Amino acid sequence: MIKIGIVNVSDRASAGEYEDLPGKEARALLQKYLTSDWEEAYAVIPDERDQIERTLIRFVDQEGCCLVITTGGTGPAPRDVTPEATEAVCERMMQGFGEAMRMESLKYVPTAILSRQTAGLRGKCLIVNLPGKPKAIKECLDAIMPAIPFCIDLIGGPRLECDEKYVTVFRPVDKDARRKM
Ligand code: MTE
Repeated sequence: MIKIGIVNVSDRASAGEYEDLPGKEARALLQKYLTSDWEEAYAVIPDERDQIERTLIRFVDQEGCCLVITTGGTGPAPRDVTPEATEAVCERMMQGFGEAMRMESLKYVPTAILSRQTAGLRGKCLIVNLPGKPKAIKECLDAIMPAIPFCIDLIGGPRLECDEKYVTVFRPVDKDARRKM
């Protein structure tokens, strides 16, 4: 079974002051985009670096997620520490994801450059940071979703299929097709 983690990093949502709209948006988009069956691991946690690190490690090492999407905590404010926590738990960074998301986001807001969002690999899992605003979550996910399934293929994770109506997945080398040949 494909397992995907959604981690909303927010002091106020984790204290119950706000509804978790970022988590809801990330879930709704993944449900719309993915045609493969998947299960969710979900958490809403404060902007505390050790708590973020522990949650990411649990989602990858114990829950077996092949993809973890974080939302929030990517900006320059002192409590924004999601990128640091992500980097601390990853073995290798995938800078292209942050670059692509900022490039796309700049078409919408000049403050896109304020997001330090990044991505990295821990074992057979891709961890990606998205900003916390629901609108930004969609703008960023749309920019990277076509490349996510092939990345997960390459790290030995499960095969993710997407609905062509919403995402044109790019697989330059289709390992499954090659196997059938
Ligand atoms: N990216 C997109 N696509 N759309 C946005 O509205 N907001 C920016 C930036 N990236 C934004 C965006 C702003 S104002 C900030 S401060 C940073 O994301 C960090 O957001 P975060 O702290 O919620 O992660």
